[in-house]
Amino acid sequence: MIATDFAPVAPRCQLVPGDANDALKNWCAARDWENERAVVFLDPYEMQVRWDTIETLAATKAVDLLYLFPLGIGVVRLLRRDGELDPAWQRRLDVLFGTPDWQDRFFQVKTVTDLFGDRETLERDASIENIEAYVQERLKSCFAGVAKGLILRNTQSSPLYLLCFASANQKGSATAVKIAQSILAD
Ligand SMILES: C[S@@+](CC[C@H](N)C(=O)[O-])C[C@H]1O[C@@H](n2cnc3c(N)ncnc32)[C@H](O)[C@@H]1O
Repeated sequence: MIATDFAPVAPRCQLVPGDANDALKNWCAARDWENERAVVFLDPYEMQVRWDTIETLAATKAVDLLYLFPLGIGVVRLLRRDGELDPAWQRRLDVLFGTPDWQDRFFQVKTVTDLFGDRETLERDASIENIEAYVQERLKSCFAGVAKGLILRNTQSSPLYLLCFASANQKGSATAVKIAQSILAD
């Protein structure tokens, strides 16, 4: 497709088979980030991007990242209302967010007092706003600058993805975020 539809850029394209998480780590390790810059677009269908990949890209201090984060398509579906998450799902969320802290962020034990005394209940806040804020915080923990994301919805207006922008370079991040912010503003 590249050769036929985008012939002029074909000589500059390189296809690397394999898990993109591993390929990106190898690529980051092989570049000279003192002298090079890059824009990376992560476009998964679902929750395939590991958080350690995000951290590796941030550690270059030279990459601008566009990440289509699987909001409704992944995270909302897994955060069950009753908090009874399958251990395999929990591990997937740990890998996606790079920490198990999401459990405290989206589920809180609250004490409710009624006729029968005190009772502990589990409250879930898996609102899109809360997940969006958490993703932004996670990106800010390793990138120099992060733009406000853009929620992408389907035709029924259900949120599917959060398009995130993060800039790893301390000096360039303010300008990069400003430009990205104006593009992502809906
Ligand atoms: C949403 S599509 C990307 C579409 C592409 N950006 C385009 O415009 O044509 C996601 C792709 O990522 C691939 N994929 C999923 N997990 C992957 C992984 N761990 N490593 C590499 N590719 C992966 C899927 O097979 C699928 O082809």
